[in-house]
Parts: sequence; C-alpha cells; structure tokens
Amino acid sequence: MTKAAKKSHPADAAFYLPANAFFRANRPTALTFDDVSLATLYSEILPKDADASTSLSDSIRLQIPVISSDMDTVTESRMAIAMALNGGLGLIHYNMPAKEQVKEVARVKRHIHGLIQDPITIAPGLLIGDVLAIIEQRRFSFSTFPVVDEGGKLVGLLSGNVVKERYKTKPVAQVMTPRAELRTVLERAVAHDPIAAADLFFTSHVGINKMLVVDAQDHLRGMVTSSDVEKITAESKARRKPARDAQFRLLVGAALAPVRKPGGELDREKILTHVGHLVEERIDAVAVSTAHGHTAGVGDMVRMVRKAFPELTIIAGNVTSAAGTEYLAGCGANAIKIGQGPGSICTTRVVAGVGIPQLTALHVAGAATRKRGTRLIADGGITKSGDIVKALTLADAVICGGILAGCREAPGEIMEISGKLYKQYRGMGSLAAMKAGSAARYGHDKDDKARKVTAEGIEALKEVSGSVDDVLGNLIGGVQSGMGYLGAATLPELRAKARFIRVSAAGQKEAAPHDVIEVSTRKN
Ligand code: XMP
Repeated sequence: MTKAAKKSHPADAAFYLPANAFFRANRPTALTFDDVSLATLYSEILPKDADASTSLSDSIRLQIPVISSDMDTVTESRMAIAMALNGGLGLIHYNMPAKEQVKEVARVKRHIHGLIQDPITIAPGLLIGDVLAIIEQRRFSFSTFPVVDEGGKLVGLLSGNVVKERYKTKPVAQVMTPRAELRTVLERAVAHDPIAAADLFFTSHVGINKMLVVDAQDHLRGMVTSSDVEKITAESKARRKPARDAQFRLLVGAALAPVRKPGGELDREKILTHVGHLVEERIDAVAVSTAHGHTAGVGDMVRMVRKAFPELTIIAGNVTSAAGTEYLAGCGANAIKIGQGPGSICTTRVVAGVGIPQLTALHVAGAATRKRGTRLIADGGITKSGDIVKALTLADAVICGGILAGCREAPGEIMEISGKLYKQYRGMGSLAAMKAGSAARYGHDKDDKARKVTAEGIEALKEVSGSVDDVLGNLIGGVQSGMGYLGAATLPELRAKARFIRVSAAGQKEAAPHDVIEVSTRKN
C-alpha cells in the first residue's frame, strides 16, 4: 500500500465532515438516517472480515450489534433464542404476568440448540391405531416416538416402521424397541454441546438416527435427531457465533415494568422481587423501558435496581438529550436507549409534538457518555441495513422492532389477506398494547378508567419476512459492507472514521432504485 492511497485530501476534508463538525454545521436542524450519507474511505477491509461485535456493558458482549425490541409483537422466548443464536440479544417484553416473563427468560437460558427438550412421547399401553389417530389429529410430520411410563421414565422407542395400519391392533409395548436394547446418553454428558455429542453418537452407531437423552434416574430429558444435526451443522458454517454467557447459555434480557402502588410511588418490593426471580434464572440484562427516561421515576427505578443488583447490566431509556443520558448513566445504567418517536409504529411526535430525529439525537446524547464508557443504543426507525451502519457511527448497538416483527419467530399468528401473509405489529403505546400492560411505559395506569388515555402508537401489520436468520443475515451483510466501504475493521474504527454529508431530496431519490421497473429472477 502506498502512502498516497491512505492520505486524506483537503477537498474531501472540506466537504465530508466528522460527526462533531457535521452536526454542529447543520445546527439547528435535526437529522435522521435518510438525511445523511457516509463518505467512502481508503480500505483494506473486505466486508466478510469486518468484525461487527459490540458490548452493552463490561460483562455483555454481542457478536452482532442488533437487539430485538421489548414489544409484545416482537420479542418473546422464541425471538430471543433466535436473536442469541445469531449473536444478538432479545429483550422480552413485560405485557404478561411477571411469573410468565420469568418463565420466558428461563426458556431462553435453558435452550439447548438441537436438543428437543420436550419430545412428544407416548404411553406403552396405547395401541398402534391410537398412535395413528394422534398423528392424524395433531398433524405430526413424524412417526417415531419415545415411549415413557407415567413417571416419565424411558421404557422404549416406537419406530416409524411399525406405525402402520396393518399393526393397528397391536399394543405399543409389544412392537416398540424395548429399553434394554436402546442406546442412550446421559444428560450431563451432552449438556455442553449436544450437537457435537450427537454428531459423535450417530457416527459411532450406524443406522441409529435418534439420540435419546436421559437423567441418572432414566427419565427422558430430550432427544436429538440425526436430520436436525445435519441441518444445524450445515447452518453453523454460515452462521455467526451465538451470544452466550460463561456457562454456555444463550444471552437474554427483559424489560421491567415501573410497577406503582395505588398512591403513585414505585412498588419497590414487587419490582425487586421480580428482578430477583429474573436474576435467579441468570438473566443477562434488564431494560427500564419508558417513553420518557429523563424523569424522577425512571431514575429512582434504575438506582433501586442498581443498588440491589450491583453486577446486573441495566439498559434504561428512552432519552434524546445529553442531560437525560448523563442522568440515567449517573443513576447506574450501563447502556442508554436513544429514541423518542422514530419508531415505525410511533406517534409520539404527532401526538405530543416532541422527539428528535434519530441521528442528531444520537450525536447529542453521545456527548454525555463517550468518556464514562456508558453504551448508547439507537432505538427505533431502522428500516434497512444502511440505517444500522449510520446508527453505529454514533451508537454501540441498535434496537429493531418493525424489521423483525414479520419474522416467524415473532409472537402472533400469521394471517392471509388477499393472498399475502402478514403478522400483527403494534406500538407499545397503542391503546390495545397499553390495555395489555404497557400503559406504565407511557406514564399511564392501565386500570385507570376515569381518564381517557391518548395513544402514542398505532396497530399495524407487517408482511411476513421469513426467519430471523435470513433477516439478520441480510442486515449484518449490509453492516459489514458499510464497514468495508469505510475501511473499518471494527465498530470503534467505524465510529472514528465516519465522515458525513447532508443529502438533498434529489439525493435521497437517487439513493434508492429509480427509473426502472424492478423484477425478481430469484426462484423460491
Ligand atoms: P421500529 O422503527 O423498529 O421501532 O419499529 C421500534 C421502537 O419504537 C418504540 N416504540 C414506540 N414508540 N409509541 C412510540 O412513540 C409506541 O407505541 C411505541 N412502541 C414502541 C420502541 O422504542 C421500539 O423499540
């Protein structure tokens, strides 16, 4: 590489400005993602080599800087598992009873990829005809079942080869492979990496394609199938490293409701008991998620949780000012959520007339945190990977709602309208969501029937967008591409190198496909 290649040019320096100079030069106009573009720089970084890992605190490291939003149409355990398997993090929402939220967290922490932890079992006393009826009724696509007694102990394996009409009058116990002939593995021997254990098991036991996992008392604890192992092994070559804790469990976070007593003061006991239960399940982060984080209530709540759980990662928000960010960091938050009104289902700016376009908000908030090591999370308004690249020039991670709400791992049913598939996506400040529990996030009481509560979000639909793996694969591919254009090997380098330029309305039009009719030659 020649020196000339790396050298900056005064003409570039005059137009393409670093964040501080750029946002100052644009004062008092506030800017968001589409208002700006990033200048390319000399690069020796191939996109595939760009490292997009980040941290939310000194103890939480993510392989990808993407968090799924704590919304009731975005993140429950299924989404959180998919996020963590892809190296990110899911924040489980709180529009559910506190006990249920603890269970959701436990489901993520106890998830072992590839291990079916609650396989469908059958009783030895059934007839094959009964099994056929169950398969038909529950539309199972498989016909091999572990057989267990009433106490959950393994007594045999019913192979799909004998689940046939011709054997319908025979009892399961008579045609199953009995326990004595089954090869099983002990739970503790596979807990660390069931896929590797199963891989070895299937290689050494030719012809066996179900690995049954039992505990020391011979209770069935799970099952791994050879076809799952093959699929997962193939996928893992393409996939990023999962986000795991020191004990190899997936990372997960949960939102905390600012529960109040009838008099209006925070219900300290309820909140701390709930956080205690989450911590017992080894939660990695809690999020004090409100529409207005620069308030006495949010500050008190963060201080209270910090004092009781000194090691716990606390995310708090939302704010859009340096003072708000400094305040929450001072109360003990490790990471601050920035965003008031940028979300795709938000109406805060319309209803309340407040909120700051996202990039300016991130830049201003960042002034308060860089030196003290508090992380910033850009929350809301992300519609494409380019937005994430721009957000990461000023923040440590992004929170996505709408872009993930159409994934099959998001809660809710798929519905068909005029031949297209959709899932529900609603703001936590929509009337329906507030009734379901999130009113406190917007400073209201869900049971307050005397006052008319004004919604700050809408109910909407998202077109079904496939799996989280696919969506994140595309988003992170875009992020790495952006890093490659800026010659940034890591996210800190991206932040240091970013140079901004303002884009006109014509420039925005130029930035998207234009003057063509888009066609797709992709075969599904
Ligand atoms: P996206 O753009 O990813 O935004 O769909 C998700 C973020 O929006 C916030 N949020 C709301 N903001 N009214 C608001 O003003 C609402 O009803 C609402 N619900 C969610 C939240 O920060 C989320 O992560």
